[in-house]
Amino acid sequence: MGSELGSFGPAIVRVRATIRRYPTFDRAALRPSGPPPTLGLMCGIVGYVGRRPALEVILEGLRRLEYRGYDSAGVAVLDGHGKLAVERKAGQLRNLEAQLARLDARSFEGSTGMGHTRWATHGGPTDRNAHPHTDSAGMLAVVHNGIIENFAPLRAELEASGIELASDTDTEAAAHLVALAYSGARPATGAAGASATAGDLAASVRAVCRRLQGAFTLVFTHADQPDLIVAARRSSPLVLGLGDGETFLASDVAAFIEHTRDAVELGQDQVVTITRDGYQVTDLDGEPVAVTPFRVTWDLAAAEKGGHDYFMLKEIEEQPSAIANTLRGHLTDRRIVLDEQRLTDTDLRDVDKVFVVACGTAYHSGLLAKYAIEHWTRLPCEVELASEFRYRDPVLDRQTLVMAISQSGETMDTLEAVRHAKQQKARVLAVCNTNGAQIPRESDAVLYTHAGPEIGVAATKTFTSQIAATYLVGLALAQARGTKYPDEVAREFAELETMPDAVAAALDGVGAARELARELASSRAVLFLGRHVGYPVALEGALKLKELAYMHAEAFAAGELKHGPIALIEEGLPVVVVMPSPKGRAVLHAKLLSNIQEITARGARTVVIAEEGDETIRPFAHHLLEVPAVPTLLQPLVSAVPLQVLAAEIARARGYDVDKPRNLAKSVTVE
Ligand code: G6P
Repeated sequence: MGSELGSFGPAIVRVRATIRRYPTFDRAALRPSGPPPTLGLMCGIVGYVGRRPALEVILEGLRRLEYRGYDSAGVAVLDGHGKLAVERKAGQLRNLEAQLARLDARSFEGSTGMGHTRWATHGGPTDRNAHPHTDSAGMLAVVHNGIIENFAPLRAELEASGIELASDTDTEAAAHLVALAYSGARPATGAAGASATAGDLAASVRAVCRRLQGAFTLVFTHADQPDLIVAARRSSPLVLGLGDGETFLASDVAAFIEHTRDAVELGQDQVVTITRDGYQVTDLDGEPVAVTPFRVTWDLAAAEKGGHDYFMLKEIEEQPSAIANTLRGHLTDRRIVLDEQRLTDTDLRDVDKVFVVACGTAYHSGLLAKYAIEHWTRLPCEVELASEFRYRDPVLDRQTLVMAISQSGETMDTLEAVRHAKQQKARVLAVCNTNGAQIPRESDAVLYTHAGPEIGVAATKTFTSQIAATYLVGLALAQARGTKYPDEVAREFAELETMPDAVAAALDGVGAARELARELASSRAVLFLGRHVGYPVALEGALKLKELAYMHAEAFAAGELKHGPIALIEEGLPVVVVMPSPKGRAVLHAKLLSNIQEITARGARTVVIAEEGDETIRPFAHHLLEVPAVPTLLQPLVSAVPLQVLAAEIARARGYDVDKPRNLAKSVTVE
């Protein structure tokens, strides 16, 4: 630790007078390591069979799943007397609710039903493409999450047999195909033995699913089967909730956690039949499959706003506990231990290069991981956008460690990067916030960030938790390779453990960022500058502003300013500068100070994020946002906070919904 780079040095985080208590994460309560794959394409699905009015349960579930997509919403309810009521509407769930309120409530009475909230893929976000889709007779309804890749030949086949399609979606094909199988008809080029499925919804679903390519969670109801739902999944999430006299299914346990914590996750190519008394799971050939129930350990409050206007604001405030929970339990007997480590110490010792692959915010945490990993381990570390990774020819082999960072564990770009890395025999370690998701399942090892559910589409607490987690990976590598002594590893870990308090202090100081937001809300564009670890923070600050406030926001490494971006500076342009510590990084601090003078001379309005006590910056900052002084590598954990708040508050001042930014979705599993 000779250089000032990344040296944690003595802790200079201000110790707060009050002792903060963070909700604890019960590591022992982690789900068994074997839940089946869950790869989600966006969209949220809820299904219910029970005794209560299904519509209420479904709408409530959809409210909790809207983070998965909000291009349209729809419901289907069986009235128990052979009638299927379907309603769907483009736009957010509230549009559907308003429409339902205008209808005769009696038509939606019934205790079996399902709902959907959509992130459009095939077919625009219109009423006619909203789910549920029905067969021509209006007897069968389906909701779908995923993409049926062979939808074109299937739609053509249906049209050739005289069926008129009512939407532009891939999903509708599944509705007609299952209805045909159920009726005993044999479609033109359909599966052999279709007539054997007559009157058997589960058999019909299995027969059709065998023909589908792509990723799907499909959920079916049929007016002839009032107390039954059949669902199937391949590479999209589907979880059952087991209640007393009622059974739920959903894309995410958040949809039913209020009613039950007993859950079952479905595996790849499995079909489930649910009734109010239970469930039955088979494979696509109808062979029974044993599944293992698990208990959801987090409570409903974790998925609610807790007095905040938006989930995102709550999640920003949860960062101290998210970081604390991510670190908890990872140092035992002065050794770093990861979660599911299917890599041996020898594997780690043999690593000669690290690649980080990730998207969006997770990519920014990867950029930060590079500083820590290279400094602590002396291994070269490359960071790459997952979407680019496999399309060139990255040099990978058995000695390469690929770290895939993904909050959701579902992101298709990252998953494909993982698969490519594995094909090239590299070792893959996932950093993920979602237990049992597909990316950790396909990886050799996993380290979970224990940030709790993040509902706001723009990542906040998972970003800072990812930083903490990737630093743990850096320390684990340093430990295995012997580039750090055990007491050094323990000391670095102790520094990390001071960060929940430092982040809490940063949160206490965000009042200035809130006030500034009102002033910046009318700007057309904002530039961000940073150097060293401040550069990825600047990138993340700009991304937050784009995502939430729909403003042109661009981040540059401050050293590049003179090579082009300085031409953008004009009178009144806000420029956010992430300053390094004047003590920890004196040389870079001086250079950034010069940059600030250069841009101020050209009319920029500077917003400076600087360490508390950095008096040298004061005369040059139009607006100063102070953060606690912490060691260099840890600075991003505190400097991200005012930038998150700034973006959220600017978006609110511009009248936008910060939990559901336009055009975005939380898990993006299309390439
Ligand atoms: C989407 C989200 C981003 C997120 C990115 C990667 O684009 O809108 O907020 O950073 O996906 O998601 P992941 O789940 O892989 O971290």
